[in-house]
Amino acid sequence: MNHSPAAVGFFQVWDTYAKVVASNYMFHRELGEAIRAALRARFAERSFSVLDLGCGDAATFAPLLEGLALESYEGADLSEAALTLAIKNLSRLNCPVELVRSDFMKALAESSLKDAIYTSFALHHLPTDQKAEFFRLAAEKLDRAGLLLLVDVTREEGESLPAYHRDYCAWLRSSMNALNHEEQDSICDHLVNNDLPEPYSLLAAQAEAAGLKTLPGLAPHKWHRLMLFAPR
Ligand SMILES: C[S@@+](CC[C@H](N)C(=O)[O-])C[C@H]1O[C@@H](n2cnc3c(N)ncnc32)[C@H](O)[C@@H]1O
Repeated sequence: MNHSPAAVGFFQVWDTYAKVVASNYMFHRELGEAIRAALRARFAERSFSVLDLGCGDAATFAPLLEGLALESYEGADLSEAALTLAIKNLSRLNCPVELVRSDFMKALAESSLKDAIYTSFALHHLPTDQKAEFFRLAAEKLDRAGLLLLVDVTREEGESLPAYHRDYCAWLRSSMNALNHEEQDSICDHLVNNDLPEPYSLLAAQAEAAGLKTLPGLAPHKWHRLMLFAPR
């Protein structure tokens, strides 16, 4: 198996992540409502294709797509285990579903033109220069009337990466009370070793440099965001 360290580390804490989602500690509920509203508004009059990068088990995204006029869904993730779970979670979609075990940057580079490109809590694994490349590729693969939906953690403006790691772990330990100490430790361990979130302003500047315009998104919490971009 060809898993990146980030993906391997993540799946050692997969069950814990499921608890985090169930308790809405990362604001998936608020983000999900905004994602569905954005998709509905953008694709009110037509069916659309979706590329989901770092789709994981698609447990949070699949329900948001139900009832929308989906033309096709393609998901990419490095984890075979996650993709196996995704098959079941996506089974209610009324459109062709394709899942590929691949690095998501490779999947993006090889993708055909898409109406919607979605990535959730995955981009922060990439170093800064690769995030710029992500936006460049996304701009290239997005239909002119398409939408890029980016859900991720961001650092506060002026917050250093070590400060973010320290403060996120402290916040997690004080707020994620449904997790035991071992589970909290494993998330902190994972994020200190793998997470490279950027300030929102940097991501927006990279997107603008790639030819995308920023649309109003949602920040239900200072570090957790939905960012929306469209071709200019
Ligand atoms: C925190 S999970 C998020 C899963 C899902 N998108 C969600 O929001 O619930 C991050 C996912 O990104 C995947 N991942 C991380 N780096 C990746 C890469 N370079 N290529 C493909 N998948 C990657 C992991 O395997 C994992 O499934």
